Amino acid sequence: MKITFLGHACILIETKDKTVLIDPFITGNPLAKHIKIDDLKPDYILITHAHEDHILDVETIAKNSGALLVANHEIINYYAAKGFKGHSMNIGGSFKFDFGRIFCTTAVHSSSFPDGTYGGLACGFILETSHHRVYIAGDTALTHDMRIIPKVFGRLDLAILPIGDNFTMGINAAAVAAGFLLCDHILGYHYDTFDAIKLDKEKAMKRFEQMEKDLYLLPIGDCLKI
Ligand code: NI
Ligand code: MN
Repeated sequence: MKITFLGHACILIETKDKTVLIDPFITGNPLAKHIKIDDLKPDYILITHAHEDHILDVETIAKNSGALLVANHEIINYYAAKGFKGHSMNIGGSFKFDFGRIFCTTAVHSSSFPDGTYGGLACGFILETSHHRVYIAGDTALTHDMRIIPKVFGRLDLAILPIGDNFTMGINAAAVAAGFLLCDHILGYHYDTFDAIKLDKEKAMKRFEQMEKDLYLLPIGDCLKI
């Protein structure tokens, strides 16, 4: 499985034969100028919540690729009214797609579209293929609910956690979350894009070292292989 960081909270996951894009926000991110959205042809676009920094490029990429949208009922309805095809889920549920299973997890965060339309409850996702299991937390606070993830779903190969603070968990909360998740490999995201979420990377690396966990902070466009 190849996991590429496309800036902010946008992640591209390539499984053996399918491509899953999460929370596309590229054209609005000056740090991601070198990422060309026309090159992105995902089979699926997963959306954790309706805030602009997670949905800005959904429509363009969905039009270019014909990707199936996967999100909560409110978000899928919003895009269905504009002619996009989608699969709606909600927190606590899972569904088997052709590349593997998606579980929809709790996130403690708000969710509304830029035009004010209610966006349902924010969520996270677990992607499970026959070989790998990855947790994408979405925008969230630290929550005890994270403790149940390894109990219910089993060992995570990678947890993708927000770490930029202000809108989501910061360094310390993300480190505690990694402990709750019993996961040793963490990809940090949702940092540096805006002034309010600038990350002290040295401090973050040190905090995770104390936990004896690997924190990855990838340059935009770089990937991890698991
Ligand atoms: Ni948000
Ligand atoms: Mn956000």
